[in-house]
Amino acid sequence: MGRKLSRRLSSPHWWARPRPIPSLPTAKFTTPSMARALGRFGPLWAGGRRRHPGSDTLTQQELKSSFSMQAKMPPCDFSPEEYESYSYERMLKIRKQNLSPSLNMYYKKPLLLHQGHMQWLFDYEGRRYLDLFAGIVTVNVGHCHPKVTAAAQKQLGRLWHTTNIYMHPSIQEYVEKLTALLPDPLKVVYLTNSGSEANDLAMFMARVYTRNFDLICFRGGYHGASPYTLGLTSIGSYKHGVANGFGCQTTMLPDVFRGIWGGSHCRDSLVQTIRKCSCSQGCCEANDRYIEQFKDTLSTCVPKAIAGFIAEPIQGVNGAIQYPKRFLKEAFQLVRERGGVCIADEVQTGFGRTGSHFWGFQTHGVVPDIVTMAKGIGNGFPMAAVVTTPEIANSLAQNLHFNTFGGNPMACVVGSAVLDAIAEDSLQKNSEEVGAYMLLEFAKLREKFEIIGDVRGRGLMIGIEMVKNKDSRQPLPDEEMSPIWEDCKDMGVLIGRGGIYNQTFRVKPPLCITKQDAAFAVEVFHAALMRHLERTAAN
Ligand SMILES: Cc1ncc(COP(=O)(O)O)c(C=O)c1O
Repeated sequence: MGRKLSRRLSSPHWWARPRPIPSLPTAKFTTPSMARALGRFGPLWAGGRRRHPGSDTLTQQELKSSFSMQAKMPPCDFSPEEYESYSYERMLKIRKQNLSPSLNMYYKKPLLLHQGHMQWLFDYEGRRYLDLFAGIVTVNVGHCHPKVTAAAQKQLGRLWHTTNIYMHPSIQEYVEKLTALLPDPLKVVYLTNSGSEANDLAMFMARVYTRNFDLICFRGGYHGASPYTLGLTSIGSYKHGVANGFGCQTTMLPDVFRGIWGGSHCRDSLVQTIRKCSCSQGCCEANDRYIEQFKDTLSTCVPKAIAGFIAEPIQGVNGAIQYPKRFLKEAFQLVRERGGVCIADEVQTGFGRTGSHFWGFQTHGVVPDIVTMAKGIGNGFPMAAVVTTPEIANSLAQNLHFNTFGGNPMACVVGSAVLDAIAEDSLQKNSEEVGAYMLLEFAKLREKFEIIGDVRGRGLMIGIEMVKNKDSRQPLPDEEMSPIWEDCKDMGVLIGRGGIYNQTFRVKPPLCITKQDAAFAVEVFHAALMRHLERTAAN
């Protein structure tokens, strides 16, 4: 390691020293924009003291005293190797010239990441970041988890590939371990290489088994980018104006925050929406109305007999959208009455991410006919799976179905080590505990900031939906979202983005994140919101 770098790293937070909140203007805040930004929660900014009735002013002192960034980046005893590859500029040039231009890059100055250790990422200059997005909800057990890495290294020297025409121990060992985590009759596994491929296969299975064609999916869902799954993916920015989706019908998303209906206790989360309703205990008018819409889709868009319905237990790319509590249970029943099968896309929600349960579908009290999984299954190793019932699997066995790499020894060994790490490190429990803490802390910020419209999720699958103001629930425009997000990055916290309008911050870190990390992240987010207030006041 270079002397300069090692000196910098020997100071535990050399770079992460919080930037002081820039000093605030000396004038009293009397601008309409400032008053609007503080909204109905203005009094909180006066240190909890009510201002004089009729006065919209906050003094500089009052605003400053309401928050001062205390948090230091939690320590990390890992030192990255020195970066030895091309310069940043050369990397950027190659990226522009030789990689798909449709690949989005995050941040104005894109990150050049060099190394990872558990919940931490290091850039080419040795700068450390708390990763709250886990390689898009993938690195569940932590970057380069030592046991998973050791298992992969051992297998690399033993056997890489045979195809599944032969037996090798790791595939049997793995599927036995995986199916032990699923309820009956979900016991037959197909191993694939990506989530899109898993959903392709699930669609195919549903059609072959039922001998029906039509599949229903939610608007706002993301199920992959292959030509087949693009029909299910219902986020406009992924559509390319080429024919897709033959036999795929979208239905209204039962989004209790942004949707037409929603109230104050619709969803299964520690935090409810800011919307009000008068539903009595056990009733949910929003659910009933959304189910009516689902029935309407069944009556108007598909034949009497359908192939199935696919849903994420919590929508991922769309920003941790949760449905009313009973919705999936009732929808599954309606689908089965039409001869269809129910597919749970667990690509983001699986492997303990929702905290209380290993699989997202369990939080809805349903057992699907087909479950698809990817991302966290391999902690970043390219692998995925479809699990189904023996009956559905038998229907596919009428003809050959083959996949060269699916279930290769490397993937199976990695997948197996990931399952061990989840159990040994108690990651599901950690996700539940740290997730609950974070969710409630973000909800406190919703009380203070007019631009936080919704805070939702389960475990470490959290969405913070940003709005122009709480009354309109209009999405916060990108020119206001992006600086908040960039500020978080500059203070050492990487957060994801999502939602149809890119209006939601996605917090889906490795499940090994600690409460101390979570507290740091919340404080950084708070500081970024303070800066947003200052920008708004200055305009
Ligand atoms: C819920 C869900 N399903 C499927 C996919 C597709 O997975 P992959 O990108 O591995 O093809 C994704 C990817 O983001 C996803 O979030």
